Formats: sequence, C-alpha cells, structure tokens
Amino acid sequence: MAKLNHHYTKLVGNYLFQEIGEKASLFQGKFPQAKLINLGIGDISRPLPPSIVSALETSSKEMGFEATFKGYGPSQGYPFLREAIAENEYKHLGINPDEIFISDGAKNDIANLQELFDVDNKVAMPDPTYPVYIDTNVMAGRTRPLLKTGGYGGVVYLPCTEKNQFVPQLPNRPCDLIYLCSPNNPTGVAMDRETLQKWVQFARENKAVILFDGAYEAFIRSPNVPHSIYEIEGAHEVAIEIRSFSKTAGFTGLRCSYTVVPHALKILEGRHWLSLNALWKRRHDTKFNGVPYPIQKAAAAVYSEQGRKEVKALIDSYLEQSQFLLKTLIKGGFQAYGGIDAPYLWVKAPGGASSWHFFDYLLEKTHIISVPGSGFGSAGEGFVRLSAFAHPTTLAEAAKRLIHI
Ligand SMILES: Cc1ncc(COP(=O)(O)O)c(C=O)c1O
Repeated sequence: MAKLNHHYTKLVGNYLFQEIGEKASLFQGKFPQAKLINLGIGDISRPLPPSIVSALETSSKEMGFEATFKGYGPSQGYPFLREAIAENEYKHLGINPDEIFISDGAKNDIANLQELFDVDNKVAMPDPTYPVYIDTNVMAGRTRPLLKTGGYGGVVYLPCTEKNQFVPQLPNRPCDLIYLCSPNNPTGVAMDRETLQKWVQFARENKAVILFDGAYEAFIRSPNVPHSIYEIEGAHEVAIEIRSFSKTAGFTGLRCSYTVVPHALKILEGRHWLSLNALWKRRHDTKFNGVPYPIQKAAAAVYSEQGRKEVKALIDSYLEQSQFLLKTLIKGGFQAYGGIDAPYLWVKAPGGASSWHFFDYLLEKTHIISVPGSGFGSAGEGFVRLSAFAHPTTLAEAAKRLIHI
C-alpha cells in the first residue's frame, strides 16, 4: 500500500489567497457596481521590455532551422547567460560563471535547495516572510507540530516588528540553515550592510549556511543596502544567493532565475569537507534539463546596452509607484513601511485591529484588495501588504480612495 509523505498533512496557511479570492467575490456579488482594485497580488503589470521580446523572437526562430536549433542544453545553463550574469552582477565580487546555476524560478530553487541538507538541521527564518521557506521545510519533515502561539515547533523564527524596524535580529541559540530575504517580501524592508555583516559573522561562528533570497535586488536604491551578500567579507564560505528575472525584468510568465553556490562553500561530512557547488551541480544534472534556450537568450538580453536601459526604466516606474503609494498612505493617516527599496508596502492596522479586520475594512471602505500580514507569519499579525505593481491608472485610483477613506 502506498504511504503518504505524512509531513504534507501538517501544512497550513495555503488557503490564504483562496480565502482572499472568496471574500472578494462575495463582496462583488453583494455590490456588483463596486470597482475592486487588487493591490494584493505580487505580480507585475507591465509587458516585457522590447529588447527582451526581440531576443525571444530571434532565438525562437533559430529553433526552426537545422543549423541553429537546440536540443537539450547544459543543465546548469548556457555559458552565454552564466558569463553575462558573472560579468554584470558579480564582476567585483569574485563569483565565476561555474558558480552560477540557471533555473526556471527562484521559488523552485528555494524549495529544492533544502534537500541538500539533513532533516535534523535547525532552521531559522524571518517572520513574516515568503511562505515557501517554511512550507518546504514542513514538507521535508524538518518541523515539529504547530505551536499555540503560532508557527511550527522546532523552527527559530526571527520576528520582524516595528520595534526592530522589521530587520531580523540574531537569535540567542545556534542554528544551521538561515533564510534571509532582502529586500523582504512582505515588509518591503531591506537589510543594511552592518546587519548583513553580523549575520555572516554569526553563520561563520555557527558553521551555518545562509540561503540569501535576493529576488527583489533590482529594487534596491539605498546606498547602505548591499545588492549581494557576497559584498560582505567571508560570505563566500557561508552563503548561497538566489535571484530572479521575474520582478527584475518582467519574467514571471517566462520563468528564469539563478542561484549562486560558491566553490568556497563547503560542509563537513564525517572527516571530509564537501563542496555544495558540486552537490548542487549533481542535483541539477539528475533532476533538471535546463531552462529553454529562447528564455535564456531573453534573459541575456537584460544585459545588452538597450536591455539595461529598458529594465532600469521598468523598475524605476514601479519604485515611483511604491513611493507614491507610501506618501499617499502616510498622508491618509496610516502607518506604512517599506516601499523604498521594494515594490511592497507594509501597512499597520489602525487601532490595533487584526490583519483580517483591516483587510475587510479596506475592502468595504475603498474596494481595495490587500493581503493580510498574518498570512506571512504570526509576527505579521496587525498588518496588511499592499503591492505597487498595479497599472499606473489603477494605482492612481487606489490612492484617491485611500486619501478619502
Ligand atoms: C521573496 C521571493 N522569492 C522568490 C520568489 C519567486 O520568484 P520566481 O518567480 O523566480 O519563482 C518570490 C515571488 O514572489 C518572492 O517574493
């Protein structure tokens, strides 16, 4: 008889977006004239930049000719893309193309990386944060039953609250695997250099590995916020970095990302130091046949002269929107955070209300759909996340409603 991976039955919280959808359609049913605005969804609203479309077209056509079509590509990714990433993102940070792995999404890599590590590793992660970190560790059996106080037993949660300005603080006990997300989803807050230095130092002292999620790296504008964890001395021996073209260049539908696993990152197994780069390569070779050639060509176009200009303009326009939304919320009397180095705003529920109360309030009074912060971890209670990815006219309309609430 087939037996289930019973850890799957421990998963909670996957009804968040379903519940949001149900509440919104119930409201729409009651008030058919209401024009709902969705500022909950974290997806992009602008089309692909022209130079990326052009690379996609050209490379897709190549697939139709005997002389240029491609079959299986290298599982780690084509050298042209790995070289472009090394040159444009990591030139001064000592990262080589063979330390870069191309993938079809940061979500997949974040989910898959944890399988390199024993089930007994003690995991630390910010709270609130991207739910994939906790859920994949639950699936792997790395957590204990749910706690009455919220969250899973056996996990070191790093509460990110108003008190610590939403920055994860070092825990007072050792841990082995540390998830860090900067700029963080959902708070929109990024970690500064001094904080990251402390985390790298902590990882080195504890022989821990940091899984550094830089999916929103392209949105960083503050000078004291590192774009890469490898800007911090000593990080090459303790950190894996994951980045994505999704929000950077409009690839949420195309799917392309990359993960950096430095050769210097080694783990002691018995009496031998094993290279995580070699193990991740082994994993890729066994379980992955690479990202389609036209998609990798489209990603490489991000680094062409024209591509760079177009992508910068795209991110600047989203950032303009997030800063406009932040100003609007503050003008409207709300307490709001984030939005400077990220497309997300973290908005406090007035009067100590719960996340869901505030969600209902915004829906009823402004017809705006948000995401309750409690869905990203128990320390997210009392907040909602708003996204600035909306179309400019939609966002302008949302701002009007928020001011006149
Ligand atoms: C923090 C974070 N990491 C990773 C991802 C996933 O990125 P991708 O589209 O490359 O799978 C997201 C997507 O929303 C995210 O918010």
